[in-house]
Amino acid sequence: MDKDFTKIITPIIKKAGEIMLSATNVEIAEIKQGDVNYVTFYDKKVQDFLIENLKKAYPNAYFIAEEKDNDNKALQNDLCFIIDPIDGTTNFIRDYKSSSISIGLFSRGEGIFGAILNPYLGELFTAEKGKGAYLNGEKITVSNKPFSEAIYAFGSSPYYKKELYDKTFNVAKALFLTCTDIRRSGSAALDFCHVASGRIDLFFECRLSPWDFAAGSIIVKEAGGIITDMDGNELDFTKPQSILCSNKIVYPNALQTIKNV
Ligand code: IPD
Ligand code: CA
Repeated sequence: MDKDFTKIITPIIKKAGEIMLSATNVEIAEIKQGDVNYVTFYDKKVQDFLIENLKKAYPNAYFIAEEKDNDNKALQNDLCFIIDPIDGTTNFIRDYKSSSISIGLFSRGEGIFGAILNPYLGELFTAEKGKGAYLNGEKITVSNKPFSEAIYAFGSSPYYKKELYDKTFNVAKALFLTCTDIRRSGSAALDFCHVASGRIDLFFECRLSPWDFAAGSIIVKEAGGIITDMDGNELDFTKPQSILCSNKIVYPNALQTIKNV
């Protein structure tokens, strides 16, 4: 097995990005359980392409992916990919050009590689455990901004609106009053990359699924950031949960602000 994951996976994710860029007349193919949770023909096409080609490169690997049925036991194997074929599907449908492809690789439950591609900007974020995080091959790190100067992003947990809107917007409001300003990209995977590269300083969302944060968690950690749930607990890649990630300076303030809400 070739353990230079960046070298092997880069051409595969880039080809998948070309499928996204070639999309025309993107229509909703299916609406999943929950509020406004859409799937398009391209989500499935990109997912099939990734699984087929990653399987060729790593025949013994298992797969957990957003648009298929999954068994969490797969994570206990030597190699298990966690894939979001298109993160930011609503943006993709609306041609908002803020969507990404996210590939995390785990070994016996531990994250060992992450890649997130923004095909619109040609930006590929990668990280291998213990080797740092990179944007198109150049090393990236989280910012060193203090809380008062932080720009933060949040996700609105749109598929769980009624259950989570109160908490989401109360936390967003509390942070807004102490930080500098706020952003909403519509792709959690890209939000992790923006924290990892120091473009923003903090991101939170009250509920995300493992395919949303698998690759991002590795990239943020390798860029020197912290990622936990919103109560400060370690991530669990077998279930949906809240997410908080930031640089190390901002993190304790963010956690305290959330506790006080
Ligand atoms: C969604 C995006 C969005 C976030 C949602 C996610 P999807 O992923 O990451 O930014 O707010 O919670 O589910 O469904 O477009 O892959
Ligand atoms: Ca997603």
